[in-house]
Amino acid sequence: SKKLILDVDTGIDDALAIAYAVHSPELELIGITTTFGNISVEEATRNSLILLEKLGVEAPVVSGAHKPYARELFKPYSRHIHGEDGIGNQLKGAPSRQAASGDAADFIIGQARRYEDKLTLVAVGPLTNLAIALDRCPELPQLLERLIIMGGAVTVKGNVTPTAEANIYADPEAAAYVLGAGFSLTLVGLDVTMQTLLPQQEVDKWREQGTELGMFMADMTDFYMEAYRNFRPGIAGCALHDPLAVGLAIDSSFVETRPMHIAVEVGDSAEVGRTREVQNETGAQTLTTIDVALKVDAERFLRHFLSRVV
Ligand code: BDR
Ligand code: CA
Repeated sequence: SKKLILDVDTGIDDALAIAYAVHSPELELIGITTTFGNISVEEATRNSLILLEKLGVEAPVVSGAHKPYARELFKPYSRHIHGEDGIGNQLKGAPSRQAASGDAADFIIGQARRYEDKLTLVAVGPLTNLAIALDRCPELPQLLERLIIMGGAVTVKGNVTPTAEANIYADPEAAAYVLGAGFSLTLVGLDVTMQTLLPQQEVDKWREQGTELGMFMADMTDFYMEAYRNFRPGIAGCALHDPLAVGLAIDSSFVETRPMHIAVEVGDSAEVGRTREVQNETGAQTLTTIDVALKVDAERFLRHFLSRVV
């Protein structure tokens, strides 16, 4: 099985991605690293520990960045989408386990060296931990087998501003750095994740299963579903952003990709956080070719996800 690190800002779809990964025999979750994003990094760590406890897994959870790479926190947390606690207001108490010592960037570097060229990293939050790891270990892109990022909106509209997707917007400088660093990289953006929708009746089935996990997942996901009904009316369900990135670690053929050069808008323009295709080099920024997911077999992915998540 493939060694996997999940870098998360746990969040409801992050939580679904964690469960999907843990239940996938093709993947061996060697650790979770956390970042600010949907909620604070402390809450992301806590939520990840709670999830792993519910899933009966002992993998380490390592805390990372509490603010963006090159600026102060400026994107508000997404509690209106993920709940006050980030997990749909289903928090019942503190986790019984603690975070592992050390920090996320060091953990990523250490495991990348240990499993040289045999480690997949799936990053589904702001890319701050990876940017910090690159500063400490410039050869990181050569040490990872593959990096899969949930982020960006190359051919479609954004979800936090008309042009920007939340994970990229939350730390644009980190995103620009990571996307240009030479990783063997697949970008899974809103281009495809807004098509992988989870219907309400599937969530109801989790509850009907009557298992503790099924009921927790259903109650949690109901909050996210309700947020989609309020903020994205006209969409039949809620988007499985982060689970699709995990899905690609298992089976790349869920999506069709195209090699592209992607520039990330940084600074303070109105389009900050935008991911845009560019043809060559722009200014001093030499761009890496990355694989951008543009089409998804949403039905096959959804069936696969549903067969494993709870
Ligand atoms: C991304 O932003 C977060 O709110 C979600 O967890 C996902 O990673 C979608 O834009
Ligand atoms: Ca996320």
